[in-house]
Amino acid sequence: MTANARFSLMIHGGAGPFAHVTDASAAARYIDGARAVVEQGRAMLSAGASALDTVEACAALLEDDPAFNAGRGSVLNELGAIEMDAAIMDGATLAAGAVAGVHNIANPIRLARRVMQDTEHLLLIADGAMRFAEQCGIAQVADDALVTPDAIAEFEAYQRSRGESPRFGTIGAVARDVYGTLAAATSTGGMTGKRVGRVGDSPIVGAGVYADNASCAVSATGRGEDFMRIVMAHTIAAHIEFAGMDAAGATQAGIERLRKRTQGQGGVIVIDHMGRCASAHTTARMVCGWIEHGGKTQIRF
Ligand code: GLY
Repeated sequence: MTANARFSLMIHGGAGPFAHVTDASAAARYIDGARAVVEQGRAMLSAGASALDTVEACAALLEDDPAFNAGRGSVLNELGAIEMDAAIMDGATLAAGAVAGVHNIANPIRLARRVMQDTEHLLLIADGAMRFAEQCGIAQVADDALVTPDAIAEFEAYQRSRGESPRFGTIGAVARDVYGTLAAATSTGGMTGKRVGRVGDSPIVGAGVYADNASCAVSATGRGEDFMRIVMAHTIAAHIEFAGMDAAGATQAGIERLRKRTQGQGGVIVIDHMGRCASAHTTARMVCGWIEHGGKTQIRF
């Protein structure tokens, strides 16, 4: 097997704000969580799993971890309720599935996969997405099981601050499997205090998620409005497909554009069609983990 035929995997758990992380023990929660997910992804990809199955599984694990803003651990909207968005994309076919404004679902990424596989549509929202979940037999959970004490504390702090510094964040995974196919997945609870019905970049193909074997797989995290305005994920893919850049160059070019055009807050993870990994962020921190070409696990926070 050549180096480029080996698998690559990247995951992220958001790009802030992580102002509350002031010591190593607080950071360990995020670092250990990211490492556990990368190792699960390694086990799958090294056994020959597809990139699509792997990013779905990694995203579901991150959704299950209450440290991260997706699934259990989602932040709360202006009414103190959960509304989640998620999307998944297959780089071999450009097939994609997405859901927005869902609740009572432990793993929105699995519902997004069903939209991709079992409907002729790409994006289902709110009541329609919930109706589809029921038709698929996806178990509903009480939202109380998804709301964490941290999410409640952040919501109360947001209310006291009259809307300053809302917490945002996302989880995501991108992979290139041993067959050379790319896939991407992104899932989020959005932003603390967001308006009811607000949808961010995570379920929008080309903004918060993208995968195309001709270029790269991208998952974004941050203030979604900034990412949608410059169609961030596809901007990075276009630098690779049309300008011949590698993952590192295209990621830097994308982040520079985000910074200059929208003063955007957030970051991205990227694997290009050769399996090269890159990440960048405009915030103080982003938690991410990766394996390039089947090598050592790397974690950065
Ligand atoms: N990037 C997640 C959101 O803005 O909803």
